[in-house]
Amino acid sequence: MYRTHTCGALRTEDIDKKVTLSGWVQKTRDKGFMIWVDLRDRYGITQLIFDESRTDKAEIEKAKTLGREYVIQVTGTVIERESKNQNISTGDIEVLVDKLTILNASELPPFTIENETDGGEDIRMKYRYLDIRRNPVKNNLIFRSQVTMEVRNFLSQEGFIEVETPYLIKSTPEGARDFVVPSRMNEGQFYALPQSPQTFKQLLMVGGMDKYFQIVKCFRDEDLRADRQPEFTQIDCEMSFVEQEDIMNVFESLTKYLLKKLHDFEIESFPRMTFDHAMKTYGNDKPDIRFGMEFGELNKVAQHKDFKVFNSAELAVGIAVPGGASYTRKEIDKLIDWVKRPQVGALGMVYVKCNEDGSYKSSVDKFYDQEDLAKWAEATGAKAGDLICVLSGDTNKVRAQLSALRMEMAERLGLRKSNEFAPLWVVDFPLLELDEETGHYHAMHHPFTSPKPGQLGLLDTNPGDVKANAYDLVLNVNEIGGGSIRIFDKETQAIMFKHLGFTEEEAKAQFGFLMDAFEYGAPPHGGLAFGLDRLVAILGGQETIRDFIAFPKNNSGRDVMIDAPATLDNTQLSELSIALNLKETE
Ligand code: AMO
Repeated sequence: MYRTHTCGALRTEDIDKKVTLSGWVQKTRDKGFMIWVDLRDRYGITQLIFDESRTDKAEIEKAKTLGREYVIQVTGTVIERESKNQNISTGDIEVLVDKLTILNASELPPFTIENETDGGEDIRMKYRYLDIRRNPVKNNLIFRSQVTMEVRNFLSQEGFIEVETPYLIKSTPEGARDFVVPSRMNEGQFYALPQSPQTFKQLLMVGGMDKYFQIVKCFRDEDLRADRQPEFTQIDCEMSFVEQEDIMNVFESLTKYLLKKLHDFEIESFPRMTFDHAMKTYGNDKPDIRFGMEFGELNKVAQHKDFKVFNSAELAVGIAVPGGASYTRKEIDKLIDWVKRPQVGALGMVYVKCNEDGSYKSSVDKFYDQEDLAKWAEATGAKAGDLICVLSGDTNKVRAQLSALRMEMAERLGLRKSNEFAPLWVVDFPLLELDEETGHYHAMHHPFTSPKPGQLGLLDTNPGDVKANAYDLVLNVNEIGGGSIRIFDKETQAIMFKHLGFTEEEAKAQFGFLMDAFEYGAPPHGGLAFGLDRLVAILGGQETIRDFIAFPKNNSGRDVMIDAPATLDNTQLSELSIALNLKETE
């Protein structure tokens, strides 16, 4: 038997017990006549003591050879600790060792395996198995497991059935590139890894499963960011005979259940906001509503004077930064530099200080009088002591720039509190989105999303105005999940494919299976998918999903631990009939 207890288990009640523990050596302190060892496992740390007057000499000699991360087993007696450690659960006791077995030696680890480590991101990723021994990473993985379990509990209780769908499929167009897998048995042909199980879950509805869910890996070959991984996990769901309201109710209840279970956080109901309102008021389709600083559009009160910058702009829009009137000239200049950084891209920024005495001082006093500026203050909700920051330009661009500034100011002012949760639904998304490069429309959500009732006809005349039966769940600036009510008849789906630029033949070649299925009594259906990694990170009070994934990829899509992706040898390539291409590139 390797152990009678874990390293987090022993308390004062256990004093005098004979115990066996196994674990890793976190650190040793050798005072000559006494050696202390911190022994760690997943459950905690227990202090071991080797005492010259009470422990066998041979065991002491062995203890002197221990290094960091050695794997050992000890047998000894639980005794009361002289100087107690309130920071750990076993801090009242220690184990007086009478037998030590070294189960495995360890190289000196390349970084310290403690809560605060000296290891940089790259080295920790290369030795991820060592990083996982550290509490912050380990606790995140335990937290993820808890969330997943609660999700399964909730959905099972609601009557959802977990069904697995294949990973080797044909590409599903969801906006990103596919990862492809060559088929050895079908020369020159490729599978694609699913960007999501979208079409399969719809086929499960045609198959009468009624309520489906799956905690499932999805694969997308897209540029990576803190909230994106090339392989990530969805809580994927689909329901039959439902309307938008039914789906939103179930998943609002799931989110409330998780917030209550994991954080004891209660919220009556999630606010709903149209996409148009979100863009106009926050410049963002995943607005952070933990704080105000809502946009005030200023065209009406700023385009009547001789200020060309505003007069030639499609939109002039501002926010009131609380307490910003006290910023010095230097601080404001720095802010202007900040919005001009290429990542934000504004050409400049106009500002108005709202003085405590009710007067205004602006960077455009030459053009605007106190009465004008009072109207700006009204439009942006600025109070005495605030700083109004105004950007102008093309509507979409300027909204994105001001949204970036709003988030930055909120961060600086400490308004983005990670222990505060502000979920909301964003609804009424446009069905189609214009790709500015190609001039073509593509589906904003995916091609299976239905238009709002009565809007199908608009597709011919004003495609950009058609709204979708689609909804996103947003939590603290993150799109946690999204879904839609699907098209479930062949004719509408064919019209949709046509508007997305598919010829009849192309649609048939790519989605014939779905169109065929719609011939056999497809029920009205809809669903949604949560991004599990994002949900877990936000519930865990953080935003980088990598920290909640056991073996993540870095920003170049590499797993630096196993060194993937990698080249294949020629035999493997020729088995896959892709040797020829390699020769061409040589
Ligand atoms: P969507 O594409 O919106 O919808 O994806 C659903 C959710 O998955 C998460 N997500 C990601 N998480 C980490 N890394 C990524 N690269 C990544 N991409 C997406 C987001 C997102 O909200 N089939 C539809 C759902 C449906 O209509 O039912 C779909 O996949 O949190």
